Order: sequence, then structure tokens, then C-alpha cells
Amino acid sequence: MPQGPGTFITFEGIDGSGKSTQARRLAASLEAAGHDVLLTREPGGSRGAEEIRALVLEGDPDRWSPEAEILLFTAARRDHMEKTIWPALRAGRMVISDRFADSTRLYQGLSRGNLRALVDGLHEMMIGTEPDITFVIDMDPALGLARAKGRQTSEERFEDFGEELQRSMRAGFLDLARDHPERCIVIDGNRSEDEVATDVLAQALARLPEPVAGS
Ligand code: ADP
Ligand code: TYD
Repeated sequence: MPQGPGTFITFEGIDGSGKSTQARRLAASLEAAGHDVLLTREPGGSRGAEEIRALVLEGDPDRWSPEAEILLFTAARRDHMEKTIWPALRAGRMVISDRFADSTRLYQGLSRGNLRALVDGLHEMMIGTEPDITFVIDMDPALGLARAKGRQTSEERFEDFGEELQRSMRAGFLDLARDHPERCIVIDGNRSEDEVATDVLAQALARLPEPVAGS
């Protein structure tokens, strides 16, 4: 699938690591620097995908079989690509997504048996787009879980898997970053919001082209 002239940036990491906060801050900083930015999130980011979000994030942890869950996340992502991400990249915009395919590679690929090959096969068939830059926010799982639990939402299907899952997801994200050094940047999330945001912005600016004047 042709990606277009835009730039695609994703944030990944365990629950509560600060992805949403940092995605929002980076979007604001890049916009202030003159980039045309679209901030989006997964699961979600388009009307259909937001509807699927409620199906996958709410309710009993055993609500879906691992295979059905992979199909739901992939369906949500396909709709997000068609309606939101591909049009923006084709228009030359900068897309920042709070989570993307690396989350499926880990959560659906590793958390309930090894289904990574199935996740990879579906990604290749249905999505085919990789980010230009992925920020992997690394942090202590106990702290991440405490932050995430402090939010009080009904979207706790995955948080209910607990700290053990967070620990293996953290290791998985670090492995993935090592396997994809061409796009992944590991960020130490155990710092203040401001310190993390300064680091993320500096890393992004070092890799991004100058904004096109008047765009
Ligand atoms: P994620 O999207 O990775 O789950 P959030 O950005 O939603 O993480 O942050 C989870 C919670 O932690 C929020 O209440 C947020 O305000 C807080 N938070 C985010 N970054 C930091 C930080 N560096 N230090 C302390 N608290 C933070
Ligand atoms: P998110 O709203 O980003 O939660 P958080 O802010 O706590 O990180 O994502 C909700 C949950 O969805 C999170 O526990 C991870 C899970 N998830 C998957 O399991 N697979 C996926 O492909 C995506 C995008 C998210």
C-alpha cells in the first residue's frame, strides 16, 4: 500500500507509560513549529474503529478468543488506515498515532500463546504500512500500572491481566525496538513529563524534514 509523502510517527509502550501525554505534547510542539499534524489513536481513530474499541477494551478478559481478538484489532486498524491515516499521509500531513501495529504484535502476538505469525501475516495482508518513527516509552511496569489504574475508566480488559503481563510486554517492546533500529527510539519514561517531552521533541526534530512553508 503506498504510504504517500507524509510522515508517520507512533508511540508504543506499556499501559500508563505516558504515550497519550507525549503524543499530545509532540503534536502540539510540531504544529507550533509549522508542521501539519494529525493526532490519532488506536484502537480507534475512525468512527468504525472507535466502535470496535468498545468491543475489545470493555468486559470480561476472556470475552474473545485470541484469534477473534486479532481479527477485531486488525479490522479496526484497516478502517483507521482507510478513513484517517492513508488519506492524511497521501496529503503530505504528519500523522502521530498513540499505539499502532507494534501493540498488536505484542499484546495479541504474545500474551495468550505465541500467535505472532498470525499477527504478522494479517498485518502484511491487510495493513502493510510501517511508521517512519516509533517512540517506545520504556518504564517500570508497577509504576505504569499504578498510573493507568489511577485513570478510572471502564476500558480495563487488558489492565486486568496485571503486572506480570506488563512485565512481558515491556521486555517485548524492548526486543522489538532492537529488531527495528531503523524506526524505533527507546525513551526513558521514568522522568518528569517535561523531561520526556523535551527528549522526544529533540529526537523527532533530528529526524524530520523542515516544514514546508505555507503548508
Ligand atoms: P498511556 O497513554 O501510556 O497509558 P498516559 O499519557 O495516559 O499514559 O499517562 C497515564 C497517567 O500518568 C496520566 O494520569 C498522566 O497524567 C500521568 N503521567 C504521564 N506522564 C507522566 C510522567 N512523566 N510522570 C508522572 N505522571 C505522568
Ligand atoms: P490504550 O487506550 O492505549 O491504553 P493505555 O493508555 O492504558 O496504554 O490501549 C488500550 C489497551 O488496548 C491497552 O491495554 C493495549 C491494548 N491494545 C492491544 O491489545 N492491541 C492493540 O493492537 C492495541 C492498539 C491496543
